[in-house]
Amino acid sequence: MKPLEIMENLFFIQRGYLNANHFVYTSEQPVLIDTAYIADFQATADVIRRLGVDIAKTKLIVSTHCHCDHIGGAKIIQDISSCDIALHKIGKYFIDAQDDWSTWWRYYNQDASFFNCAKGLVDGDVICVGPHKFEVIYTPGHSADGIVLYNRNEKVLISSDTLWENDMAVMTVRVEGSRACFSLMESLEKIEKLEVKVVYPGHGKPFTNMARAIEKARKRLKGFLEDKTKIGNDLLKKIIVYTLMMKRGTDEASFFDDLIATHWYRETVDFYFDSNYRHKYEEIMHNFLDRGIVKNQDGRLITTVKP
Ligand SMILES: [Fe+2]
Repeated sequence: MKPLEIMENLFFIQRGYLNANHFVYTSEQPVLIDTAYIADFQATADVIRRLGVDIAKTKLIVSTHCHCDHIGGAKIIQDISSCDIALHKIGKYFIDAQDDWSTWWRYYNQDASFFNCAKGLVDGDVICVGPHKFEVIYTPGHSADGIVLYNRNEKVLISSDTLWENDMAVMTVRVEGSRACFSLMESLEKIEKLEVKVVYPGHGKPFTNMARAIEKARKRLKGFLEDKTKIGNDLLKKIIVYTLMMKRGTDEASFFDDLIATHWYRETVDFYFDSNYRHKYEEIMHNFLDRGIVKNQDGRLITTVKP
């Protein structure tokens, strides 16, 4: 978690899968871009403090969308600093309306807290992070309120969950609607036109070959549209790992029943896999145990993926 200075006084902090990567602009009026997951707030606060930032002086938080792994510190930091929080205007609406379904929090049983959103952003807005200007580009698909931030001078793209290097963020069609894959396709076309030297994604390390990442994502999306069970499999695998992270491991004996009790597991298996709940669970769990993605330690299931 060693911060990387990507522009003067602007640091990139690479986290893991439970916690999205985030950014800290160090000054007397600090600016944060995303704030990871709420359960790991202490680690987030520690890394911010180690950069010499007094969190109580935070001036602004820009969140790339409302998902729990990007807004985890928002409410806590706002309570101690009274900072402004900016989101795309659709995300602002979700927060203002306390719509914990559209934010996915309730659908996926995630912990998150509402906060006051002072500013609704729109495509083409410019955000000043100290002297660094970032253009707001609206990129729906993964989430209805997704934005990426582009610095034209340095040709830097903060791509959040719109573009990762080798994988793709989960598509939750049952919340976002079946058009979501088409929206993401259009969002990729939009960012493809930008001249970009380095991409800082929401998860994973920075990368330079944006065209290759876009091509991979596009191929994946085409596969999703040709065979919807690919969306279902991808979602189940990702959210099972995510759930194990949020719970810090779980008892093997009760995990299937816990999954069945959620909105997302039942709904996903109903829609993509003819309600074969037990069969799907066993298939995925065998695969995870074989590949070492999940370990069974004396009856507790633990994931080896970095949080
Ligand atoms: Fe996300």
